[in-house]
Formats: sequence, C-alpha cells, structure tokens
Amino acid sequence: HDVLWTEQQRRIAGEAVEWARAKLHKDSSGHDWWHIDRVVRTARTIAREEGADSFVCELAALLHDMADEKLNDDPRAAEQELERWLANSGADDEVVSHVLEIIRTMSFKGGARAPMKTKEGKVVQDADRLDAIGAVGISRVFAYSGAKSRPIHDPELKPRERMTEEEYRNGKDTAINHFYEKLLKLKGLMNTVAGKRLAEERHAFMETYLERFYAEWDGVK
Ligand code: ADP
Ligand code: NI
Repeated sequence: HDVLWTEQQRRIAGEAVEWARAKLHKDSSGHDWWHIDRVVRTARTIAREEGADSFVCELAALLHDMADEKLNDDPRAAEQELERWLANSGADDEVVSHVLEIIRTMSFKGGARAPMKTKEGKVVQDADRLDAIGAVGISRVFAYSGAKSRPIHDPELKPRERMTEEEYRNGKDTAINHFYEKLLKLKGLMNTVAGKRLAEERHAFMETYLERFYAEWDGVK
C-alpha cells in the first residue's frame, strides 16, 4: 500500500479487497480474484509513472468487475450494491463518484466504447487490458474457451469476420480466433505511455507464440 495513504484510505482498500475476494474467489470465467489482484499491481505500476491518484486507481481496480454482466445475473442490482458499498465506505464523495464513473465507463458494452475521461480511468483500463495479453492473457483465453466448451483451434473454420452472428453464438468460435478478434488489437488501444510500453513486450510474446503454435500444428518445428 501507498505510504502516503491515510489510515482511513488503508482501511477502505482493505475492505474492498475482502469484498472482491469473497465475491470472486470461485469464478472461472476469467474474472477470478487473481485477475483483480494482477490488475491492481499493474495499475500501481502505471499510476506511479503517470502520476495518477493511487487511491482512486486502487479502489477502481479492486472493484472494476463487481458489477460485470458476466458475473451477475442481475447487473443492475449489482451496480446498485456497488454504489451502496462505496457510499457507505467512508471515502470522500469525489472519490466515490470518480471510482463509479471509471467502472461504468470501463464496463459499458453497448455500441462504441466511450473513451476514459480521467487519467485514473486510463490507468485502470490499461491495467485491465494488459491482463488480457501476454503470457497471462494467453492462459486466460484458453481457460475461457474451455469453460465455454470451445475448441483450441480449427484450421477448417471460417475466420470470425466471415462467420454469421448465429454461427458465432452457437460456439463455432475458437480460442485462436480470439487473438485476431481482440487480443492483437489491444496494444493499439493503450491509453498511457507506461501501458503502451508494457503492451509492446506482451504483444510480441503473443506473436511469437502464434508463430510457434502454427509451426507445431503443421509438424514442421
Ligand atoms: P474484460 O476483462 O474486459 O471484461 P472479457 O470479459 O471480454 O474482458 O474477457 C475476459 C477474459 O476472457 C479475457 O482474458 C479474454 O481474452 C477472455 N475471452 C473473452 N471472450 C473470449 C472468447 N470469445 N474466446 C476466448 N476467450 C475470451
Ligand atoms: Ni477485468
């Protein structure tokens, strides 16, 4: 924890850890507690370099998936619970509204994604996206695909952009496809200088991984 935090801020962060841990410890959709823990650590690294408010980043990172639609049957109720939790946390009003604004913008799914408005939002979004790429990101794609009963790879399958929505929904998607649909695009979506730098190496690692994957698949390496 940040040495400059007040006793109160330390207590609130500790309570957020307990709440997030209790809710996410048994998730297997790729949003488990250790995802949160990694996002928190990466957000600290980026926040330091960007000179962002470390307490706002910490709270937003800890709570960013609490109202996610993948984790909640009733995302609206989960969002209200999050609002209530923050309002009763003892955090300053500006911190509460800032953290809520970050989480709402990050998890906004409909249509074109709104850009993050504040430096702290940019930091936390970068940290979340970084966890989807690199060695950890590769692990998460296969974990998620397995949980959805999707195959690793199918060389006879159409690329996603040529699949119909129906084929896609019927699970005719593969883990390898997801690299092209999303993971290889994330490097270009980084907000911060530190985020871009961290994304560089993780991205290169995925490209190397894919090269080897196809070579091994073809039996030539
Ligand atoms: P976010 O953390 O932004 O909510 P998602 O919920 O889209 O991200 O994804 C969580 C994890 O699951 C990521 O690591 C992502 O790569 C993986 N994932 C999401 N959709 C798919 C998919 N269609 N196939 C394989 N993996 C996926
Ligand atoms: Ni996340």
